[in-house]
Amino acid sequence: MDKIGVGYASVTDIEKKYVMDVLNNERLSQGKYVAEFEKKFAAFHDKKYGVACNSGTSALHLALETLKEVDKWDENTEVLVPAITFIATSNSVMHAGLKVKFVDVEEDTYNMNPDEIEKHITENTRCIIPVHTFGMPCNMTAIMEIAKKHNLRVVEDCAEAHFAKIDGKTIGSFGDISAFSTYVAHTITTGVGGLVLTDNREMMEILRSLVAHGRACTCERCVASDGKTVCPKRMQTEIDRRFSFIRIGYSYRVGELEGAIGLGQLERKDEIMGKRHENAEYLIKGLEKYEDLLQLPRHKENIEHTYMMFPILIKKGSGLDMKDMTKFLEKANIETRPMLPLLNQPIYKEIFGDIEKEYPVAEYIDHNGFYIGCHHGLTKEQLDYQIATIGEYIKTRRQ
Ligand SMILES: Cc1ncc(COP(=O)(O)O)c(C=O)c1O
Repeated sequence: MDKIGVGYASVTDIEKKYVMDVLNNERLSQGKYVAEFEKKFAAFHDKKYGVACNSGTSALHLALETLKEVDKWDENTEVLVPAITFIATSNSVMHAGLKVKFVDVEEDTYNMNPDEIEKHITENTRCIIPVHTFGMPCNMTAIMEIAKKHNLRVVEDCAEAHFAKIDGKTIGSFGDISAFSTYVAHTITTGVGGLVLTDNREMMEILRSLVAHGRACTCERCVASDGKTVCPKRMQTEIDRRFSFIRIGYSYRVGELEGAIGLGQLERKDEIMGKRHENAEYLIKGLEKYEDLLQLPRHKENIEHTYMMFPILIKKGSGLDMKDMTKFLEKANIETRPMLPLLNQPIYKEIFGDIEKEYPVAEYIDHNGFYIGCHHGLTKEQLDYQIATIGEYIKTRRQ
C-alpha cells in the first residue's frame, strides 16, 4: 500500500480556471479574487468582514494586536490558551508581547475545558483563545458566559475547524475576532494563507491596516485598487493615503493567486466536507469494536464536526503504547502525528518550566494521543487498510 498521509490538498478545474484568469490578467497583488474570497469566507462564518493574510499564525497575531490597540492592553496582559493546541496559538500571544496562561482541556473533545478557566483568571486577564481542535467545536456557550462575566475578549482559533457548527451556529461567529489557517491540508486551502473575521468595523479597519504595514487608507478601492478607479480620499492628506502609515504594521498580505485558489476551494466546500464526513464515519464504524481500548472522535448530535484529522486516544488500562502503535502504523505506511502536544515542547519547557504535570488531561493526551488521516482524498480501500492495520496491531499486542 502506498503511503496514506494525514493531509491532502486537491486542486480541480475550478481553481485552475481562476488561477489562469489571474495569470492572464497579469495582476498578482491583491485584487478582486482576494476581495471575493474574503467576503464569501466571512459570510460562511456569519461574520461581516474578512481580511485575508499569509498564515493562520499571522491571523492570530493580527487579532491580538488589534484588540491590544482597541482595549489599550499593556505587557502584563494575560491571555488564556488551551494546554493542547498547535504551538502557533500560544506563540502568537508572545508575538504580540502578551503573557500566555494555559488552561487544561476536556478528556473527550481535547478542547479547552470551561470548568478549568476561572481558576486561571487574574486581574490581568483580558482574553480567551478557544481552539476548535481537529474540527471539533469548543463548548462556546460556557466559554462566552465566562468571558461575559469577567469582561474578557474572545479570539476563536478556527484553524482546524472551518465551517464546523454548534446548534447550527458556525464556529468563528461567537467571539470578537476569529482566526483561520488555509495552509495545505486544512479543509479549505490556498497553499499558505489565513483569514481574520470580525463584525466590528473599527477592528476590521485596524486589521486591514496592520496586514499592510500600518497603512492609513483601508477602503476597498485602495486595498484592491484595479488601477482604474481612484479613491476620493487618496490625495486629501499631505502624503497619498495609500502610502501614509499610521501604526507599525506587518507585511502579512496575500496575493491574487491565493485568492483565486481559495475562491475555487470555497465552491467545492460541500464536496470536500461531505467526503471527510463520510470517511470519518466509515473509520468510526470500522474501529468501534476497539472502543474499550481507543477513544474515537465521537460528538454530540448538536455538533457538526469537520474532521480535519482523525484523532485517536489510547485509553487508560488498555495496555497499548502510543509510541509502539504509531511506529507500527508508520511501518505499514500509515502516517501518524502526535495529538498537538504543547507543554512538553523543548522551547516551552525552557520558557515555562516543567509545568506539564499541572495539566493532567493535556499531559495524558501528550503521551497517549495521535491522529491519522480521514481526508477527502482517501479511497475505501485505504480506509479499510487503516482499520485492518489498527486491528492487526491490537491483535499482536494483546495476545
Ligand atoms: C490550531 C492552529 N492554530 C494556528 C495554526 C497556524 O496556522 P499556519 O500554519 O497557517 O500559520 C495552526 C496550523 O496548523 C493550527 O492548527
